Amino acid sequence: MQHFLSIEQLNAKEIRWLIDSAAHLKLQRGREGQPLVGQTWALIFTKSSTRTRVSFEVGIRELGGFPMFLSGNDIQLGRGEPIKDTARVLGRMVHGAVIRTYAQQDVVDFANCSSIPTINALTDDEHPCQILADLLTIQEKLGTWDGKKVAFIGDGFSNMTRSWMWAAKYLGFELVVASPASCQPPSEFLTKLDAANVSVTCDPIAATTGANVINTDVWLSMGQEGQKEKELEFKGFQVDAGLLAQAAPGHIVLHCLPAYRGKEISEEVLELHANTIFQQAENRLHAQKAILVELARK
Ligand code: CP
Ligand code: NVA
Repeated sequence: MQHFLSIEQLNAKEIRWLIDSAAHLKLQRGREGQPLVGQTWALIFTKSSTRTRVSFEVGIRELGGFPMFLSGNDIQLGRGEPIKDTARVLGRMVHGAVIRTYAQQDVVDFANCSSIPTINALTDDEHPCQILADLLTIQEKLGTWDGKKVAFIGDGFSNMTRSWMWAAKYLGFELVVASPASCQPPSEFLTKLDAANVSVTCDPIAATTGANVINTDVWLSMGQEGQKEKELEFKGFQVDAGLLAQAAPGHIVLHCLPAYRGKEISEEVLELHANTIFQQAENRLHAQKAILVELARK
């Protein structure tokens, strides 16, 4: 693996390897060695972040490297310098890059033009680091995702949903995505995905019935804050006690956070499942250390 740009570009073996490595690094924390010693990694973020920024900064330090946070607004990128020029400059100075931005193509272009390992820390298309942490959490809480039913309740074409759909395709678990009619994944995407184990519905109750994992995310992703009318479409899609009444016994609830209580998830459900949800947040650190170790190996 030269870069970590999407779940779409991985395969089952790579995903399983990264999760096993993350579980091992979690156990070994403090004794994991320093594969990034002498390396500086740039964190280029043009969107807000709490978990991703902190987990990458801590993870890079724990592996012996030095993280350099660069807000998109503070560097010349924010004044229009092209990503390919930013990439060619940073590629001559730092050893790796972690990028959070809007267009997936910008992360791809950075990887191609910089010649340094590049990690997608969230784009409009995918949030691949988060999915590794989510899968690790399922493994820890339920033992495996094999044979489980996963429901995703929310925006059917957000970065989180897309990454989940690719993960389900490769790993083979059942995934049902429930979204309002106006937020369904487009048919071209589903044709490209070509996964018989992934289905979409407008019925959150059908999706949740018998589900072992119920997953949700914000209704308005970063960059969509002005689309208040879109939120109105999600009436009936809140993950609350009523919806969870149909879920399988022993089910878990995941939320990548930040959460908007009273919108995509009720206060009651978030607090009841806080142990899982904050374990999921912590797992960002371990999952990303696994990615960094793998990229440092090359
Ligand atoms: N889940 C996640 O990526 O959180 P941040 O936006 O805080 O990084
Ligand atoms: N779909 C959300 C994920 C946040 C971690 C967003 O892009 O804002």
